[in-house]
Amino acid sequence: GSRNVGETRLRKGRINFSPVPVSEGSGPMPSISSDYEYQVLIPWGTPLQSGIAEYTGDPNTRPSAADQERMVGVGHDGMHFFPFDGKNKEGILAINHEFGRNSHVLGKSAPEDDEDIRLSQAAHGVAMVHIRRSMQGWKVVVDSPYNRRITPNTPVLFSGPARGTPLLAPESGAKGTVNNCSSGFTPWGTYLTCEENFNGYFGDSQGSWTPTEEQERYGFSPEGFGYGWETHTTDRRFDLGSAEHPNEDNRFGWVVEIDPMAPDQPPVKRTALGRFKHEGVAIVEGKDGRIVAYMGDDQRFDYIYKFVSARNWQEMRAEGLSPLDQGRLYVARFNEDGTGEWLWLTINDPVLAARFNSQAEVLTYARVAADLLGATPMDRPEWTTVAPNGDVYCTLTNNSRREEPNPANPLTPNEDGHIIRWRDKGQHVGKRFTWDIFSIAQDTHAEGDERTFSDPDGLWVDPGGRMFIQTDGGQMKGLNNQMLVCSVYDEGGSQNLDIKRLFTGVTGDEITGLTTTPDRRTMFINTQHPGNGDPLASNFPAEPDGVTIPRDSTIVITRKGGGVVGS
Ligand code: FEO
Ligand code: CA
Ligand code: CA
Ligand code: CA
Repeated sequence: GSRNVGETRLRKGRINFSPVPVSEGSGPMPSISSDYEYQVLIPWGTPLQSGIAEYTGDPNTRPSAADQERMVGVGHDGMHFFPFDGKNKEGILAINHEFGRNSHVLGKSAPEDDEDIRLSQAAHGVAMVHIRRSMQGWKVVVDSPYNRRITPNTPVLFSGPARGTPLLAPESGAKGTVNNCSSGFTPWGTYLTCEENFNGYFGDSQGSWTPTEEQERYGFSPEGFGYGWETHTTDRRFDLGSAEHPNEDNRFGWVVEIDPMAPDQPPVKRTALGRFKHEGVAIVEGKDGRIVAYMGDDQRFDYIYKFVSARNWQEMRAEGLSPLDQGRLYVARFNEDGTGEWLWLTINDPVLAARFNSQAEVLTYARVAADLLGATPMDRPEWTTVAPNGDVYCTLTNNSRREEPNPANPLTPNEDGHIIRWRDKGQHVGKRFTWDIFSIAQDTHAEGDERTFSDPDGLWVDPGGRMFIQTDGGQMKGLNNQMLVCSVYDEGGSQNLDIKRLFTGVTGDEITGLTTTPDRRTMFINTQHPGNGDPLASNFPAEPDGVTIPRDSTIVITRKGGGVVGS
């Protein structure tokens, strides 16, 4: 794909740093461009309140569950910096704690008691961390009233069409968010955290559960991913066979809104955005001030969605309504000729009316509804981002099982992934779009090609058209996972893209999470699951010692002498 979908041309931001050479992008510690420097911030186990000790990776201990509830969690993924009064040196960093395997968090393959389960749960969820920059760098403001942990046990509310329906009943006492992968943020200052592989936290402790068709489509299984939460002796929420909690599975798989400035308010699950394995949510203001949310469902052969609010977001908010509660959910179909259609998931569609009883069911089982409408099965949609000219980009990280190509997913198999691009008709609110493929990762793998990358995942295009690509998977040429920068205004397709490597992580990690201060001179990214939790692979942020448990960390990136990050 060499055609530029967008017609608008905006000022191209310069990209002229010295890239990290392939030869320096491996090993147990990160590498960064010689024009840049980095600082480690909030590794797993950083206290948010005084009176508890940091967990520093001692292999013989772990935090208590009670302490973990007052510490930074594990599995750093999507995040957003909410500045105080537009400031560049103080604000709230909202950060997802996607997952931590038992072997990493507990130091054993399965929980042995309820305390182990509570520790595992407390390490998951979201953190709101008040941070401030001083001469010594960025630090947590310990005991700030804004510091907050949200876990699978935090009370939550539901909103939108599925609220108050039998699918979620009873809603009083509903708790928690889990597998919070990527994220988004709204123009009204809230954080959006996306529940991805929620199915894996459920299991069947009694051998008494038979899956429904919908549960099978969402991947629930008797053993889950091995977290063992279903074995808790008194809390049966994650036990699929439990008659006491028949709808617990329906309570996960949503986009969840959190107000960082209102630490006493419960998170709200916005059911109008549909239930699937939410990767991230890119919000843009569309025609007539409507809110548009682009979203991926990260599974092999799953779909790309968009939500469009019913009306102008400011008007809705002035009336006390959430723009994320009323609107239309669509799923994408990519046609052979470079056009595409947004298929509306509505109970008024005869095909969906024949299968479902209500709009609440359509949204709760959005995957099933999208199957019925003939959406295009994609190669694992991860992050979406909207460029300043209105083009939308989405990473398709890989699909080792693809045998049948389709126009938008041409590789069989697709080992290393690609990035697709589209432009919506009607300022993001239309039913049609045009699309092309922006970059195919394997095009960068030739011998001597320093641009090599695989498995694109995190993605952002800044106001200067700089695209930041973060990777999660087996990189070619012995590289660790990485963050690269190119310009969306370059022509000529992926063979000609000038891609520069800004940062490489550590053995076994993935690079994810991306946010900046308002001036874009400070960027925050994450190394997630460094060493895959194995101290023989990495001890990050500790120097290599073969013993210290590696800890997921935020990496603060600045240009030496100042400058917009990516320049
Ligand atoms: Fe949690 Fe699809 O990445
Ligand atoms: Ca991840
Ligand atoms: Ca991801
Ligand atoms: Ca991924």
